[in-house]
Amino acid sequence: MKLLVHETPEELAEAAARDFAARAREPIDVLGRFAVVLAGGSTPKATYEVLDRDYADNIDWSKVHVFFGDERPVPPDDEDSNYRTARETLLSRIRVGSVHRMRCELPPEEAAAAYEQELREFFGPDEPPSFDLILLGLGADGHTASLFPETSALDVTDRWVVVNPVLKLETARLTLTIPVINAAKAVTFLVAGRDKAQALKEILEGDADPREYPAKFICPESRDLTWMVDRAAAKFVQR
Ligand code: 6PG
Repeated sequence: MKLLVHETPEELAEAAARDFAARAREPIDVLGRFAVVLAGGSTPKATYEVLDRDYADNIDWSKVHVFFGDERPVPPDDEDSNYRTARETLLSRIRVGSVHRMRCELPPEEAAAAYEQELREFFGPDEPPSFDLILLGLGADGHTASLFPETSALDVTDRWVVVNPVLKLETARLTLTIPVINAAKAVTFLVAGRDKAQALKEILEGDADPREYPAKFICPESRDLTWMVDRAAAKFVQR
C-alpha cells in the first residue's frame, strides 16, 4: 500500500491524472485496452478536468473503456448522477472507446442485473472482472463507492453489482461489491479535505471494525493499492 500526500487538492488532481495516464499506457500497448472504473462524488472532478486539459493527446482514449463504481438512484442527467459528473468533466470532451454507465433510471434490481450482465459481456462470464484501475473516493464516515457502514452490500461475495439500501440516506444505491474491487489490477483512492482526516486515520492506522469503515475492506489481491490524499485529509496520519 502506498500513501502519497500532496499539499493541495490541485496537486492531488495533477498527480492522479499523471498516474492514470501512466497506468493506461501498458494495458493499451499490450492488451489494446484500458478498463477503468471512475469514482463518484466531487473529489475526482478535478482529476477528470486535468485529464481533459492535459492528457487529451497523451492517451489513446479510443482504447479506454469507462465504468463506474457506484451510482445514485437518479437518471443520467440528474445533478446527483456520478455519470453526469464524469460526462461533464471528461466524457463529453474526450471520445473514449466505450462508456458503461449504471442505468439507474431502471428499477434498482433490474439496473444491478443489467450492469452485472454488461460486465460479464465485457470481461467474460466467470471470473470477477479484472479492471486495470479502479478509482475510489472516501466518505467522512469511511464509506467507499456505495459501500456504507453496516450495510448489506458489505457481506456480498457472490455478486458483482448490488443494490445497497443506505438507511441513513433514505435511499438505495448501486455499487460494485468488495470482491470485484479487490480483483482489480490496481486501486487508487483519491481523498481530499479535512473532513476525511479522522476516517483516513482509522482506516490506515486504526483497528476499527471494517464494517464501521468499509474502505478497510479494500485490499486488492494484486496488492497494488494507492492512497492519494491531500495534506488536510492526512492531518492525523503518521507519515
Ligand atoms: C458517491 C461516491 C462516494 C464518494 C464519497 C466521497 O457516489 O458519492 O462513490 O463513495 O466517493 O462519498 O465523496 P466526495 O468526493 O464528494 O467527498
